Formats: sequence, structure tokens, C-alpha cells
Amino acid sequence: MKKIAVIFGGCSSEYAVSLQSAYAVLKNRNGTHWEAVMVGISREGRWYLYEGVPERIPEDTWEAGDKCYPLTLCLDRDRHGFLVCRGTDGWRRKKTDPEKETGVSLELLPVDAALPILHGRNGEDGTVQGALELAGIPVIGCKTLASALCMDKELAHRVAASAGVRVPSSVVFSKEERTAGMARARELGYPLFIKPLRAGSSFGITKVMEPSALEAAVQRALEYDDLVTAEEMIPGFEVGCAILEEKGKLVTGEVDEIELSEGFFDYEEKYHLKTSRIHVPARVDKETAGRIKRTAKAIYRALGLSGFARVDLFLTPQGQIYFNEVNTIPGFTEHSRFPGMMRAAGIGFSEMIDRLTV
Ligand SMILES: Nc1ncnc2c1ncn2[C@@H]1O[C@H](COP(=O)(O)OP(=O)(O)O)[C@@H](O)[C@H]1O
Ligand SMILES: [Mg+2]
Repeated sequence: MKKIAVIFGGCSSEYAVSLQSAYAVLKNRNGTHWEAVMVGISREGRWYLYEGVPERIPEDTWEAGDKCYPLTLCLDRDRHGFLVCRGTDGWRRKKTDPEKETGVSLELLPVDAALPILHGRNGEDGTVQGALELAGIPVIGCKTLASALCMDKELAHRVAASAGVRVPSSVVFSKEERTAGMARARELGYPLFIKPLRAGSSFGITKVMEPSALEAAVQRALEYDDLVTAEEMIPGFEVGCAILEEKGKLVTGEVDEIELSEGFFDYEEKYHLKTSRIHVPARVDKETAGRIKRTAKAIYRALGLSGFARVDLFLTPQGQIYFNEVNTIPGFTEHSRFPGMMRAAGIGFSEMIDRLTV
């Protein structure tokens, strides 16, 4: 039976979301053709082999028990796996007899592939993918370059634009360039969106309605990244398209739609849907749904994605489609958009996980 490392947690502001996504993947998988090796990364970035019950993952108590062993990637490409330290002291040398005990014993844990279920920085951004590729471990999902590209909202826009897709006008600037950057941002008009260039789950994003609110919004975005992007607001509503790649063929889910009653799709709305609703399928005609799917596939190809991804777009009242962003590792909880779109197209959660992991 294949062994697949399901990697969860991560040194990211989206650590908690990853725990929920990974748990759903572990609970819903069929379990007949692969065995899950649970690899947890703490908020601080410590890697562990986790051998406890999956239920402790979403509760965030997985690291506290005695079922956690320090682990690291084995960079020897022929071994394609991890090195685990099962000694009670972890990486530390045994204190009982410091003269004799000078090392730790490491056990090799080979795997056939890795499925990173990590969101945001240090996980969805190509860093973990690069490390896995270097270690000779096949990655399920997007590879290093595409993951890194999609993490950078501006670069992803540029590549999509070069493939003929409409993107919002934007201005990127650093902390040092903020005065000039804000002046250029004002030219975009209001409302405008101020975002950290590389983050997720709407962290650090503000919809700026008037000039007096701009500075505080920039300050907030700078708490999440040292680069900020200012984007013109695209009117209309948000639509998404889930894509699953099988032997090079792209399978799309039903297009979904976010109905907002106020503000924007911020953290509260994403995870608690307080005032917004998600419609699957989207309330659009067949022709429009078809155009959205074709645009999403064109973006998928232009950005060099692989395995799976959720492409987020805006649909204007005039029927124009704009690219917003790609989530290379979208939320995978049972209530998340990617599984919802696949389910609406007749592919249930377990089947979706099965199809990802064959
Ligand atoms: N240019 C824009 N026009 C209209 N709404 C936007 C724009 N950019 C972002 N938003 C709103 O903000 C939300 C979060 O922005 P997004 O770029 O998707 O960041 P994240 O990676 O955190 O999800 C979107 O889902 C949407 O509701
Ligand atoms: Mg988004």
C-alpha cells in the first residue's frame, strides 16, 4: 500500500485553518489504496511525525501528547522520506550520561508521496514543495514555482494578464516606499483594497472607502508582509472554480458564487458565513458558467499549476471576468468551497481525495 505524508499545521498565520483542512482529508479518505503518514508542523516551524488520533489535530492538542516524534526531511534523494527521532529526549542529547550518549538515533521513514495541506506562507508558497522536491519526494498538488507564483498576488496577475485574462489595476510598494506608493494607490480611486502581497484568509486586508482610512490600512497590511498591494475594487461578485487534474486533463467542479451583504469576504465571513452565503452552482446562466470555467482553466495552464487548485474570479455586472487569485492549497474542510464545488459536480469528498492520491 502506498504511503503518503499528509503535512499539516505550518509556520503560518493560517496554521489553524490547515488543522481543520487536514483533519477533513484524513477522516474522509477511503483508506483502501494509501496509508497516511501524519506529519505536523508546529506554529514555530518544528516538524513532527504524529501517531495519535486524527481528532487531536483540529483541537490543536496533537503536539501536546506523547505521540509526537521530531522528524526532518532526509535530503538523500534515494531514500525519499523522513528521518524520525523516537528517543524520549527528541533531538536533544540524553542528559543521563553526557559522556556516552552523544547522539540521537534516527529512523528512516520512506514515503511514496507527500500531500501538503498547508495554507499561506511557509507551506502554500513553494518553500515546502521545494524542500520535498529536493528530497526526491513527489508532491501532490502544485510544485515549487507555481506555488511561489500564486503566493505573490501581483506576479500571478501579471502572468494571467499575459495570457489575456483581465486583472484589477494595482500598485505594489514596500514599507520604505509607502509615501510614494500611497500617492499612486490614491489614483486607483475608492473603494480600493489594501492587502499584504503574500498572505491568505483575508488577513491584513482592508476595503478602503475614503482617503483618511488609507494609512491605517497600509499599516495593517504591513503587519503581515513587507510588501503591500493596492487594488482597484472590481464591482459585481466573486465566483470560484475548483480544478482537479487527472492525467493532464482538467476536471472542473460547479462554479460557485459568494453572495455578500456587506463589506468583503473577510476572515469572519470565510469561516463563519455571518452575513454572506455561498451558492453552488452560482446563479449565472450556462454560457457564463462555461466562460468562467474556461477562464479558470486558462489561468491554471498559464500559471503552470498541477494536481488541483481553486481559481477565484470576479464577475462584473457587465459580464466581464476578472482574475482575483489562485489558492494552490484551498480549504479542504467539509464546508470549504473546493469540496463543495466538486460535490455539486458529482464528485464526493472521499472520491475527490481518492482521485488526488492515485
Ligand atoms: N480587487 C478587488 N475587488 C473587489 N473585492 C476584492 C478585491 N480584492 C479582494 N477583494 C475581496 O477581499 C477578499 C480577500 O481578498 P483575496 O485577494 O482573495 O485575499 P486572500 O488571499 O486573503 O483570500 C476577496 O475574497 C474579496 O471579497
Ligand atoms: Mg481569496
